[in-house]
Amino acid sequence: MEEWQPKQYVRRVAVVGCGVAGLTAIKACLEEGLEPHCFEMNSDIGGVWYTSDSPKPGGGPQMYDSLITNISKAMMCFSDFPCPPHYPPFLPHKLFQQYLHSYAQHFELQKHITFNTKVLEVAKAEDYITSGRWTVTTTKVQADKQTEEKTTSEFDAVILCQGFYRVPHSPHVPGMKEEFKGKIHHVDSYKNPQDFRDRTVIVVGSASSAGDVACDTAPVAKQVYLSVHHGAYTISRLVNGRTPWDFLLRRVTLNYVPRSLAHRVMVAKASKWLDPVSSGLKPKPSQPRSQNNFIVNDQLPFKIMTGQLKVVAHIEKLTGNAEAHLEDGTVLREIDDIIFATGYKHDFSVIDPSFLSSEPESEKLELYKMTFPLSLPHDTLTLLGCLRANGPIPPLLENQARLAARVISRKHKLPERSMRRHDVDLINSQQLERHGCLKYAFQYLDIADNIATELGIKPNWWHFCLQGDVKMALAVLLGPAHPFHYRLVGPHTWDGARDAIFSAYRETVFATQHRKVAIEEGKERGGSGELRWLLWMVLSLLGLCLAWLCL
Ligand SMILES: Cc1cc2nc3c(=O)[nH]c(=O)nc-3n(C[C@H](O)[C@H](O)[C@H](O)COP(=O)(O)OP(=O)(O)OC[C@H]3O[C@@H](n4cnc5c(N)ncnc54)[C@H](O)[C@@H]3O)c2cc1C
Ligand SMILES: NC(=O)c1ccc[n+]([C@@H]2O[C@H](COP(=O)([O-])OP(=O)(O)OC[C@H]3O[C@@H](n4cnc5c(N)ncnc54)[C@H](OP(=O)(O)O)[C@@H]3O)[C@@H](O)[C@H]2O)c1
Repeated sequence: MEEWQPKQYVRRVAVVGCGVAGLTAIKACLEEGLEPHCFEMNSDIGGVWYTSDSPKPGGGPQMYDSLITNISKAMMCFSDFPCPPHYPPFLPHKLFQQYLHSYAQHFELQKHITFNTKVLEVAKAEDYITSGRWTVTTTKVQADKQTEEKTTSEFDAVILCQGFYRVPHSPHVPGMKEEFKGKIHHVDSYKNPQDFRDRTVIVVGSASSAGDVACDTAPVAKQVYLSVHHGAYTISRLVNGRTPWDFLLRRVTLNYVPRSLAHRVMVAKASKWLDPVSSGLKPKPSQPRSQNNFIVNDQLPFKIMTGQLKVVAHIEKLTGNAEAHLEDGTVLREIDDIIFATGYKHDFSVIDPSFLSSEPESEKLELYKMTFPLSLPHDTLTLLGCLRANGPIPPLLENQARLAARVISRKHKLPERSMRRHDVDLINSQQLERHGCLKYAFQYLDIADNIATELGIKPNWWHFCLQGDVKMALAVLLGPAHPFHYRLVGPHTWDGARDAIFSAYRETVFATQHRKVAIEEGKERGGSGELRWLLWMVLSLLGLCLAWLCL
């Protein structure tokens, strides 16, 4: 006789956007038995990683030809899908887009995506109060143009994955609009340096885009100036010439080392790569430590050392005779172009912004775990990626997606509203304290582990100790916090996680070795790497205990 099975209630979920967040949201919905329908206005997946020769229909930042990820492949991948061993440690953007395609193919995500379809509005369904359902209005995008035809459908839940930093932010500089005759650009539309040949260019900003574009234009331009406001420290992608910098993102540092000490170590490492004083990049002393920017850039030292790039002060005004007057009194002459690499603003155009904050006109957001709007009575609308972090973004988006799908499928219940309110208020006050504004910029592991704790996927080192798995306990506490850690415990663990964790160092660092190199006996670096790594971790633990005793 056939066994009776309860009829499963399939919940239709609209996923808006198919960048990294949208892809991982589709995958998480499928894992939870939901039915995802993803709408993407471009004709391919990838979001910012998707490049095409024609402008993208909805705008948004795009990758310049020379872009290389500033996060290593072993940190920037999804938790159950490592990058192939033959990929280099840091990926040119086209290779990361290729990785996203393999992810979509492997988990059969493509069939859940409708391309060339723009979501115009997400609104409460008529019976929202009782059902928590949403209506989603879409239109077709053809040859980069919207059609007039609109379609509206109902969904049980919506996951917004639009890439919320889409609108270019350019500060107003006195004289810029009224007097200055040169060209003004935003890095948003920068592709390659060809338009800047033999021109005098000022790049404004002191973060990743500014550093990259200044270095990219420097060899062809007549002169490039990098105009910085608060300044920044610069680190190389590799520390000690071989280990990716992000392998320093470890739970031991986050949870057991005073932040001031960790910051000092980073500053010391950065100062060895590019002296902040002689380069002129040093952050202003008035800037609190928590607001210091670290640029990951391997070319800045060379461009500065060879005079192709000059770091200068903040621009105070621009004049009609092509001059830029700087904060320190310097005047730069014959300026042809200004490229603003000054970031992006939020774009919440498809929803009513009052869902997100009790002060919709301000920059304040009230999102539990930066994912669930506090104001809504049902947990059926979620946002992924409305935050910044000093580490890999894809695994962070994946944690948000897994939590969203678990809650939508009603397999996980969020805490009471009063507790959520407390959590949200705490985040907002911490942001103000750390950054002086609501930037929603987090320490990567802080926020990734915080979301993982809510979902029950954060591995605890003592949990492995109790099970007698000392090697894994040490890896979780002292090793790099690879995304694979989030597949060791809780819902939807992955059998390959252990192997991925212990092979990540070898597969990342030695991916660059294409020629066999004679190594002195006893100093072999590849095969015995795991043992040496374990030893290193035990020594760091002892060192840490000693440091605590001495303090
Ligand atoms: C130049 C640059 C370099 C970066 N480098 C790194 C890096 O090295 N490492 C790292 O971790 N992070 C990096 N990032 C951060 C990057 O933004 C994230 O890693 C991640 O790709 C963000 O994904 P997302 O899906 O949230 O947003 P997006 O990639 O912006 O995707 C959003 C998608 O939603 C679609 N969409 C938007 N609105 C609608 C609508 N109304 N209807 C239908 N579709 C819609 C868009 O077309 C897009 O495809 C970089 C960002 C930039 C801009
Ligand atoms: N190679 C890579 O992997 C790569 C390359 C590019 C971008 N990205 C990623 O893309 C995202 C966006 O990076 P981004 O560099 O474009 O933007 P961003 O991180 O938001 O940085 C904006 C920069 O603009 C400066 N700025 C803002 N307002 C200013 C003003 N009024 N005057 C002068 N300067 C001003 C900021 O300086 P202050 O902070 O001092 O105000 C900051 O240096 C990040 O996640 C980044 O990691 C990665």
